[in-house]
Amino acid sequence: MQEYISRAEKVLQRIDELAAISEDPDGVTRTFGTPAFLRGRDLVQGWMEAAGLNTRTDSIGNVCGRLVSPRPGAKTFVIASHIDTVVNAGKYDGPLGVLLGLNLLEKLAQQKTELPFHVELIAFSDEEGVRFHTTYLGSKVVAGSFDQSLLQKADANGITLAQALQTMGADPAQLENDALPANEWLGYFEAHIEQGPVLWERHIPVALVTAIAGQQRVELTWRGMAGHAGTVPMDMRQDALCAAAEFVLAAEQFGQAHKENIVATVGKLQVSHAASNVIPGEVVCSLDLRSADATRLSSAYEALQQQAQEIAQRRNVELAWKLVQRTAPVTCDSGLNIQLEQAIAESGHELIKLVSGAGHDAVPVSAVAPATMLFIRCYKGISHNPLENVELPDVAAAIQVSERFLLSVKS
Ligand code: HGY
Ligand code: MN
Ligand code: MN
Repeated sequence: MQEYISRAEKVLQRIDELAAISEDPDGVTRTFGTPAFLRGRDLVQGWMEAAGLNTRTDSIGNVCGRLVSPRPGAKTFVIASHIDTVVNAGKYDGPLGVLLGLNLLEKLAQQKTELPFHVELIAFSDEEGVRFHTTYLGSKVVAGSFDQSLLQKADANGITLAQALQTMGADPAQLENDALPANEWLGYFEAHIEQGPVLWERHIPVALVTAIAGQQRVELTWRGMAGHAGTVPMDMRQDALCAAAEFVLAAEQFGQAHKENIVATVGKLQVSHAASNVIPGEVVCSLDLRSADATRLSSAYEALQQQAQEIAQRRNVELAWKLVQRTAPVTCDSGLNIQLEQAIAESGHELIKLVSGAGHDAVPVSAVAPATMLFIRCYKGISHNPLENVELPDVAAAIQVSERFLLSVKS
């Protein structure tokens, strides 16, 4: 196990190095296409090159490192995760999967191990969707499901995705060519922190992911009437913020009432032209709905849309309800899961099977290839928070299980 402990130390050192590259001097923020994102990507590409992988950056900003198989006509097994982050993020959500994968390939290259399939390590450029409010940009290109209309999506500064790509030196015209052809995929593996409390509580280092919850993300714009806080009587107001606030609590109550199957979150709320002496005329808020059950997800969506419309009507406020993201729940590949189960058992760990409430790049990939994931125990399950943390023995265990799994993959 000592070998895996020292390999885990190297992975964690690199995570710290990457985490030091941020748009924000006080925290970890690397959003799609920013100078900090590009510096972080260059650092990862340098590590891939030093490991002896064939590296390239593609037209959506992913960085790929390939361990080439000598076998003619070999298929490609992809190991990946993302290196973009949320705002004020933790260090491990994404980078741990990329740098654990790099550690596996580094060892194989050092030992000159020849596999009957290529292994492609990918650091995806945009899983979180922070800048353009649509997730999986990087993995959708590789999976061949990128929607060209997204190129016109603008960020908060009015810069479109197409413009951002050009600024990065990427060519949007190449996007379709950067998909890995469906017949070349052998499979997909992603190691990722659990971002939940189960492994932490159970003191178990890893878990097998059986499914990934579906998501529906909505942007709600509430338009009332801005007014003077001192002169408009309470019963004559069309207060957009009060309408939005009522919806925020309605979403929480709905989630509580269906907590076995649904989570509902309003994570963003913006008051336009906010001032303490002005009745808010316009408010934009988000809604993030998740469920592993597709039917429950759509009925929750409809129920909350109805509640929002009822609130708007009663408060004489206009409501614009815009679906910005919809991903169906995904089941991980049973064949790969059997091999991952064996690797977990052979490494001496109790088998825990979990459904992921968080989305992952495995979601778009699962439409084109068998995909599976390994969860890694993280501090109290905290994530999307600078308190995110992992323990050395759990990372060492994850490297050992992942290495056993990769060497068991059948070409
Ligand atoms: O929001 C999520 O599920 C993930 O962190 N992108
Ligand atoms: Mn993630
Ligand atoms: Mn995340």
